[in-house]
Amino acid sequence: MNRLKGKVCIITGAALGIGRACARRMAEEGGTVALFDLHDEDCTFLAQTLGDAGLPAAYWHVDVSSEESVRSAIDSVVERFGRIDVLVNNAGIAGANKPTHEITEAEWDRVQAVNVKGVLFATKHVLPHMRRNRAGSIVNLSSIYGLISAPDIPPYHASKGAVTLMSKTDALLYATDGIRVNSVHPGFIWTPMVEQHLCDSGTKDLAEGRCALDKLHPLGHVGEPDDIAWGVVYLASDESKFVTGSELVIDGGYTAR
Ligand code: NAI
Repeated sequence: MNRLKGKVCIITGAALGIGRACARRMAEEGGTVALFDLHDEDCTFLAQTLGDAGLPAAYWHVDVSSEESVRSAIDSVVERFGRIDVLVNNAGIAGANKPTHEITEAEWDRVQAVNVKGVLFATKHVLPHMRRNRAGSIVNLSSIYGLISAPDIPPYHASKGAVTLMSKTDALLYATDGIRVNSVHPGFIWTPMVEQHLCDSGTKDLAEGRCALDKLHPLGHVGEPDDIAWGVVYLASDESKFVTGSELVIDGGYTAR
């Protein structure tokens, strides 16, 4: 309890999966949570549920691939809550699952627009507020696929590789402002994105597909959103005050081989 007391935290992609778990855990730890997403119904419900439990939360309809959408929402968060202490760049899409020689420019651009430019825009527009406070923590959701590869979804691998190094560059650029920037690298986590990825890959039986993914992880199973949310809470909190430019791998041993 209270690991994030007094901190105003923006979470992008907060409606579903990992983002929703982060929002819940961060709110339970005393953070005031600003939820950014496109799914109005899910996110309004989440903000309301948290509010009913006495946890301060509000929702903004934001498309992270639009700089104007991100900028105006961030200004509005500051107007409403007075400051920004934490940004979790979580919104992401898997994109087209085709080999490189079949990818269209539009398919490539869409994934980079959400997964890479989305991180840039939110980071760019929280930085003035964090620099003013001479403090802040930015947590970027990369992936095991930002560290190693696999023979599928080429635009996604490129985007997550970019996020890994964007995190380190920003960690170095803003360290003297008291702002920390770290990346998180989940293995397969059972979320709507992974279910969709299995369907797009031709999996007919989701339970069977999940079983196959389980076997890729030395611990014997895929992860759940809370496995990532607790790592994010740590990086957002002052418990990690000496941690910047680091890669927090939470993958059931996937990349240990
Ligand atoms: P998800 O698909 O379950 O949820 C993603 C959320 O992002 C949704 O609420 C969606 O509406 C939102 N979103 C998508 N595009 C958006 C946009 N343009 N603007 C605002 N919000 C947008 O995904 P999941 O699995 O929870 O993934 C979250 C993050 O974790 C992503 O960045 C993903 O790449 C990363 N990740 C996920 C892994 C997994 O196995 N689930 C593994 C490694 C990384």
